Amino acid sequence: MSTQYDHIRSYVIRQTRMSKHQREAFERLYPVYGVGLTEQPTEWSEVFGNDNPVIVEIGFGMGEALIEVAARRPNHNLFGIEVHKPGLGKALGRIEREGISNVRVIREDAVTVFRQMIAPGSLAGIHAFFPDPWPKKRHHKRRLIKPGFPELVTPALQPGGYLYVATDWDNYAEQISAILGNAPNLIRESVEAVGGRPETEFERKGRALDHTIHELCYRAASPRQPD
Ligand SMILES: C[S@@+](CC[C@H](N)C(=O)[O-])C[C@H]1O[C@@H](n2cnc3c(N)ncnc32)[C@H](O)[C@@H]1O
Repeated sequence: MSTQYDHIRSYVIRQTRMSKHQREAFERLYPVYGVGLTEQPTEWSEVFGNDNPVIVEIGFGMGEALIEVAARRPNHNLFGIEVHKPGLGKALGRIEREGISNVRVIREDAVTVFRQMIAPGSLAGIHAFFPDPWPKKRHHKRRLIKPGFPELVTPALQPGGYLYVATDWDNYAEQISAILGNAPNLIRESVEAVGGRPETEFERKGRALDHTIHELCYRAASPRQPD
């Protein structure tokens, strides 16, 4: 039985001031590296100009992992989803400065993007590093990874594609592990097998608070062959 994903926003638009550089980079570079929201399944070869495997990062923040993974894996394409405009500005500035050609971004709610734009079986991987923990119990309904999340995102994975989540909140890690661990089409995978990940800003914040970092990595099972 599939579970309906209850679409309550998993973010608040923070009123963080955008620096002049971030604003200038966003305005100039979003038209270059940004992708518009559509209701049609995305043809990745049209977006990236090649047929390389695509990894989506949900909630890339300032873009550290997005850009570093793109630099380390030039034969992959990275599609970053983020709503926080200063983060987009910062990431776009760095993409241009470092000459990164295999990243595209969208400023949208990831739930809407998965529902509308990501074709089934079209992704090699999905990253969600340090999603907002919403620690208060009454806010747990705002968490990105909650019942229905596997049904929302795993159809987008190719057989053998992976879903990699990291969090520094014990209680959220337990929830993620229960939800993804019980998803019928996901099997636990080691982080080394999917290439690991760079350190991120929110990981550093968690470590400064002596939080344990939990790595939750799963691979989409290949469809069973008929006997
Ligand atoms: C705690 S921060 C982590 C940022 C980064 N991944 C890191 O590890 O430093 C979570 C980020 O996810 C973004 N976010 C939360 N829900 C989102 C959604 N539904 N769609 C897109 N971005 C989202 C927030 O704007 C925020 O920047």
